[in-house]
Amino acid sequence: MQPDNQTIEMKKLLVILQMLLLGFSSCVIEPEKNNKTNADMEMEKAFTDTLNGEKVQMFRLSNKNGMSVTFSNYGATILSIQVPNKEGNEENVLLGYDSAKDLFAGKSYFGCIVGRYANRIANGKFTIDGQTFTAPQNNGINSLHGGVNSIDKQVWQVKQMNDAISFSIKIKDGENGYPGEMNLNVIYSLREDNSLVIDYAATTDKTTVINVTNHAYFNLTGNPSNTILDHDVMINASRYTPVDSTLIPTGELKSVKGTAFDFTTAKPIGKDIAASEQQLKYGLGYDHNFVLNSSDVKIPAVVVTEKTSGRKMEVFTTEPGVQFYTGNFLDGNEKGRGMAYQYRTGFCLETQHFPDSPNQPSFPTTMLKPGETWKSQTIYRFSTTK
Ligand code: GLA
Repeated sequence: MQPDNQTIEMKKLLVILQMLLLGFSSCVIEPEKNNKTNADMEMEKAFTDTLNGEKVQMFRLSNKNGMSVTFSNYGATILSIQVPNKEGNEENVLLGYDSAKDLFAGKSYFGCIVGRYANRIANGKFTIDGQTFTAPQNNGINSLHGGVNSIDKQVWQVKQMNDAISFSIKIKDGENGYPGEMNLNVIYSLREDNSLVIDYAATTDKTTVINVTNHAYFNLTGNPSNTILDHDVMINASRYTPVDSTLIPTGELKSVKGTAFDFTTAKPIGKDIAASEQQLKYGLGYDHNFVLNSSDVKIPAVVVTEKTSGRKMEVFTTEPGVQFYTGNFLDGNEKGRGMAYQYRTGFCLETQHFPDSPNQPSFPTTMLKPGETWKSQTIYRFSTTK
């Protein structure tokens, strides 16, 4: 029996109603409230846009101690971090763009979440249970940061709570060559002690690999027309993973002792960056994974201090490694905050598993199986010293 026209119309209406309901329940957006300055409102406007029919918005978390952080649901990106200097002046310590359009066009991963496999996979190839998978070779012969138009270039679902904001995304089975549909959730929380906490969680429906991190570029002077070479850095790592000329680890965990990679006692980034070590030539500076001595989230993995502003940033993480990248590919092409970001004007501390782990059996595993939940936590805590 053929359904009559009225029944067909009713069914269509029901489908539309269901879609509307689903849309609302999966995307509860509560844009920021009260106490906005004109500059805040202008920024919010500049970061409001649509992409492929999806709404891109700006969100803000603020605390009572002068810290305020803005985010976009495009790439689950941290757009800015305002924190006081030793005089109490609040300034932005991140490299960032001026509008959603610039964010969409960005090529340097400013502040976004990278994955499902952050960092490099050699030749874009890896094997799981005897089956070989191929991710795009978007960085010379290697695959970098999850491939092309990965999660850093997509619009995430968002839910804002009082002192936290939650972003989630479904990564399709086979997207960028990786197996398994993955549900990834990233929650940013701002604490009253000026800590920005990032909690990650993911599940998959097929065995896959995962390495997810945030790619913020910091400049603690608050003015990224300064280079980062005078920042003092301590990394709690006695070893690092040396790389080949394409920045793929050789597999060795090499002692930092007696090398330019020894940050076990604080020293300026610029102190040894121009040393004649081959590893620094490969990276054009530091672009290496450090093997952390502890994955205890209570012990600082990295401490950065900057004398002129008196700012201090401590990094805590559950991850076994941190990619220390000194902005060696910045060349003035990326623009924002009234400037063109030059060579070494920002540094990244990408907490993560080691690069190319799927091809390095001796490295901590990055495998995630159905039924398991991958979890990770990183904290960036800001304070000042006199
Ligand atoms: C990571 C990589 C760098 C570079 C940046 C993005 O930090 O290790 O080599 O690709 O991302 O420019």
